[in-house]
Amino acid sequence: MLQLTNVSVNYGRLKESVRTRLIEAGASATFTWGALSDRSDAYQSACRARLSGDGLAWDSGWVEQRVQELRYEGALPEGTPIALTLQIRDDAGEESELYTNVFYNASVKWKAGWIGAAEDEPGRTVYLRREFSIDRPVASATLYACGIGYQKLYVNGEAMDGAALDPATVDYSRTCQYVTYPDFAAHLKPGANCIGAMVGEGWRRNHLAKEQPGAGELNRPFAYAGQPAFTAMLRVTYVGGDTEWLYTDGQWQWGRGAHFSNDIFNGETCDANHASVGWSRPGFTGFAPAKTLKASGGRMRPMILNPVIEHKRWPVLSSWPVGENSVVLDFGQNLAGVLRVELPKLNKGQTIRLSHAEELNEDGTLFTEPLRSAQATDTYIASGDGRDLSVWQPIFTYHGFRYARIDGLGAGFDVRRVTAVELHTDLEIRSAFRCGDAQVTKIHELCVATERANQHHILTDCPQRDERQGWMNDATVRFEETPYNFDIGRMFPKLIRDIVDTQNADGAMTCTAPFVFGGQPADPVCSSFLVAGMQSYMHLGNKDILAEAFDAFAAWENCLLQHSDDYIVNYGYYGDWASPSYACSDDAMGDGAKSAVTPEVFMSTGYSYHNCRMLSTFAAALGRDADAKHWAEMAGKVRAALMDKWYDPAEAKLCTGSQACQVFGLWLGIIPEADAPRAVRRVHDELAASDYRFTTGNLCTRYLMDVLSRYGYLEDAWTLLTKQTYPSYGFMLQQEATTVWERFELKKNPGMNSHNHPMYGAVDYWFYAYLCGIRPTKPGYEEFEVAPVFPEKLMSAQAVVDTVRGEIAVRWTKRYGKLHLHVTVPFGTTAKVSFAGETHTAGSGFHVFSAPLE
Ligand code: BGC
Repeated sequence: MLQLTNVSVNYGRLKESVRTRLIEAGASATFTWGALSDRSDAYQSACRARLSGDGLAWDSGWVEQRVQELRYEGALPEGTPIALTLQIRDDAGEESELYTNVFYNASVKWKAGWIGAAEDEPGRTVYLRREFSIDRPVASATLYACGIGYQKLYVNGEAMDGAALDPATVDYSRTCQYVTYPDFAAHLKPGANCIGAMVGEGWRRNHLAKEQPGAGELNRPFAYAGQPAFTAMLRVTYVGGDTEWLYTDGQWQWGRGAHFSNDIFNGETCDANHASVGWSRPGFTGFAPAKTLKASGGRMRPMILNPVIEHKRWPVLSSWPVGENSVVLDFGQNLAGVLRVELPKLNKGQTIRLSHAEELNEDGTLFTEPLRSAQATDTYIASGDGRDLSVWQPIFTYHGFRYARIDGLGAGFDVRRVTAVELHTDLEIRSAFRCGDAQVTKIHELCVATERANQHHILTDCPQRDERQGWMNDATVRFEETPYNFDIGRMFPKLIRDIVDTQNADGAMTCTAPFVFGGQPADPVCSSFLVAGMQSYMHLGNKDILAEAFDAFAAWENCLLQHSDDYIVNYGYYGDWASPSYACSDDAMGDGAKSAVTPEVFMSTGYSYHNCRMLSTFAAALGRDADAKHWAEMAGKVRAALMDKWYDPAEAKLCTGSQACQVFGLWLGIIPEADAPRAVRRVHDELAASDYRFTTGNLCTRYLMDVLSRYGYLEDAWTLLTKQTYPSYGFMLQQEATTVWERFELKKNPGMNSHNHPMYGAVDYWFYAYLCGIRPTKPGYEEFEVAPVFPEKLMSAQAVVDTVRGEIAVRWTKRYGKLHLHVTVPFGTTAKVSFAGETHTAGSGFHVFSAPLE
């Protein structure tokens, strides 16, 4: 048996949904794959790809190579199916089953205008419609549509697909992403047809779009705010070959409807009394001509990122009454999404309110203060007649919540009619982790749930309060974790482009991308920009994104060098942020989250060094030898300056000698190896003497775990993870956490009190990369390391990583007096397994190692 798996085009995995089979036109298309084989030590000896489609017929022929990648150079037809056939031959000469699939070039030259409401009212949902007639048999049709902030499309009264919150959030003044529907012909019928588009405010206009009084001097109105607008192009190709185009223009009509108003933070109001029954079906009258609008200025690009979809519906776990006519629902899980309510028969004007919160007050009511100005309330107003919905689910908002309060449905309402619909970008893969310690396994589950709740076109900091930003400081460690748990193939390139969109001529990126909060230039700890490139390269083998963004990466580091005095970066904002509060300064910024023990400029300079190293690696990968040399030299200079300024060799002490300073230096590899035992000993001594009250923040807590494990203090790392008292993940669990918190304290104040914050979830990296020891050592997992660590009190651990080459599985157990290690190596890859003091080279297949337990 030889069968292809995890096939990707341009590093985006092809899945069932058509939305995962779209690519952007470029000079080439790259195909990568894994394979399932029943032989061991098997690898590819040759491969062949064929493409066929409108005017396209290409055959690579059998190419003799071990590399599981082929590239087609040339143009691809737009919008129509491109059939892909792949086949490989292994080293024993066996040919694989034929792999066939269909993908689409989603790009088109944009010719349509923008339209919107003739009478613009902030917060009001805009309904747009256009009728047209089909009078001949249709061969194919493609719709391209972009509504900013969000769109929901209908054809002849039916919703287009199950995607939510389309299209992807970007800085609309730089880029707009349109959704491509290549199979639109299936929605058409002979005679009159109608396309309807509801356009919501999304990130085009919400209450962050204006200055928030008191929100802090760094916060600013966003550049891409404006009137919600819509643009679309429909191409219909008839049998016989004639093609017709339909564009958004003054012939479209606009009006209002039941989904009356929306705000991504505040929630949505659905008022059945405003229903425009049949508005997206042919024959409806009652709307007025739409207004043509000025474009937002962004370059039109197809949305290639997987859409936000419904992940799961959560039933009510328990409920209790609060006051008259109100009930609180507990879904048992903190998540991002909306409620779905099967409505009973209602009276005219009857008003139902859904409020959301992640935590409760002591009396069982919703604790909403941490949401700050986000109202997170959805409202339904009944018409009491046939216009009422049978099922109500808000469309243009989402909330971060575990609890909800329903008002207005009366005491007798059956709460089983309500479910929580979890929504996030479709990045699921089959990775998994578990171990013999129930708490640690649970921490992993929290980390994954927290990631999920923060994947909405960008990777946000939190889903609930008036923020939801792509904070790039948090992401520097988070982006090392994400690729183990989720498919980053299309997400990371999108995030890199979002950051490039924020850059100034001098290379300065911004703290958040798109830019809403924080500063420009960003905090220098935002190496996430380059880390996203590095992870795309190592986890997927994506060199294209490195080539595309190399100059932008380099420009950011050059900007930091400009902001340096003799290679010491001279500014920083957050540094190693939000450590346990006893290690924070009482600086008011960010609710006292600045480190009192680790200077920001030290962190800034360390990341400047890290960037230089990454740039040197990227340049070498791209064959840019002079750049590779230049950045290696720059790394040497930054390191020399940093060590000169801050390192005390007699004490093996870096900067203040705080836990963060020591572990960051060791993690970066700038402390001489000979000094490492003394350097890490300082950290151990401090932890042991303080009952493991660590002082690291959002970045260095992760490094603390890595460094302790690497330099002989694995038991300290394990103690930190299994601890149950403050400060620890165990303490969060003791306090009912189902997602990871922003701070280690159980706070009551609203300042920084998110209970769904991925930055500390970056610890999940350690489970895969240390506890199970899986780390790619060559791009795209062609070679990887399996170097697990075995804490004394842990009896077993297991991880599965669903890589581009197929699944890597590692499982270890201590039983019957022995330590056992099982490793599954995907076809065509090699693992270097470190076990019991030896390193074994393992080809594909299943491997068993054992050693006596000491
Ligand atoms: C965000 C954090 C971020 C910080 C930087 C907070 O509001 O939620 O995740 O690191 O701002 O100031």
